[in-house]
Amino acid sequence: MTEETNPLYYADYLELDKILGSQHPKSSGKTDEMLFIIIHQAYELWFKQIIHELDVVRGIFSTDNVNDNAGEMSIAVHKLKRVVKILEVLNRQVDILETMTPMDFLEFRDLLLPSSGFQSLQFRIIEAKLGLKMDQRYKASYYKNTRPGGFNQQDYGTINQVEKEATLKELVIRWAERTPFFDESLWEKYPSQYPLEHETAKFWSDYKQIYQSSLSNAEQGRSDELERVFYKEGLGEFSVHAMRAVLFIMLYRNLPIFQLPFDLLTTLIDVDELLSQWRYKHMLMARRMIGMRIGTGGTSGAGYLEGALRQHYIFKELTEITTFLVERSKLPDLPGAVKKRMSFNV
Ligand code: HEM
Repeated sequence: MTEETNPLYYADYLELDKILGSQHPKSSGKTDEMLFIIIHQAYELWFKQIIHELDVVRGIFSTDNVNDNAGEMSIAVHKLKRVVKILEVLNRQVDILETMTPMDFLEFRDLLLPSSGFQSLQFRIIEAKLGLKMDQRYKASYYKNTRPGGFNQQDYGTINQVEKEATLKELVIRWAERTPFFDESLWEKYPSQYPLEHETAKFWSDYKQIYQSSLSNAEQGRSDELERVFYKEGLGEFSVHAMRAVLFIMLYRNLPIFQLPFDLLTTLIDVDELLSQWRYKHMLMARRMIGMRIGTGGTSGAGYLEGALRQHYIFKELTEITTFLVERSKLPDLPGAVKKRMSFNV
């Protein structure tokens, strides 16, 4: 049939019969269980959209060369900003559920056993795609539990499978490592007091000096930290090269070519921060609803959620890097060739 004889109909397009026919409270119609179900379903729909956006971004970063000329970086940042907006909505949604009182919840809570939001496969996929690994999780043993309360075998297998894919964090690290800011060919005649062989080595020696002089007496130990992070070992999963590139972007973010990369880094920090805010709000809500009782999923409840909040930061290296910033007025002036290369020249 043509579109003329059978025009698209709103409810058919959205398959509302399926979505609106999927709320089946286990308790009588008088409880708040309908709200409880709808909130969770709304979360899961938004989780689906987040996963979709993360896959687009990971696709862009999976190539050996993020093609800025084709606007790929700007698409990636745009998608991540959308994720940020969705997370803001997800944080607000906690407020709606909190209109349900603990006594209201008790009316149907036992009927939910042993299921729990802990088993949300999509939430685990989001964490895994961003870069949280099984062995980095608080109480990793909970995740291996495939008994009631834990994941079913199929979901457990899916999470492990997703963990094997390149995470957004790994892809961003590889991108940072590929950045050509420190190609020696760019760095001719960098003026420095250091008679080092490479111009970029002179720059980093200058930076070390400036950073050291910015430290108060109580902070002198930090200078070894700078040495460790930017000269020897890197930080967490970030190599020395990746850390240097990221620091450089943050320091010289006013250079035109750094504006999108800087936006990328701050948006990743936003994603991490909003996820943590959600963990925090959810933990407070759980504490308010069930006090110190164990969760329906069988974890210690609020205690587990607090541990996850503390430990499940994903881009912590990016926030830690601010420890090593110095005042803009003290920054070494870059050689003309470097500045020119980092600008849009018409
Ligand atoms: C009355 C409201 C709620 C209470 C009392 C509650 C309680 C809990 C508790 C105690 C846990 C720890 C696992 C367990 O032993 O069960 C948990 C985990 C979780 N819940 Fe909820 N929850 C509530 C609402 C929600 C909502 C609306 C969502 C939205 C999807 C959600 C998603 C999650 C997720 C994703 C986890 C795993 C968190 C992590 O591992 O960091 N919960 N919840």
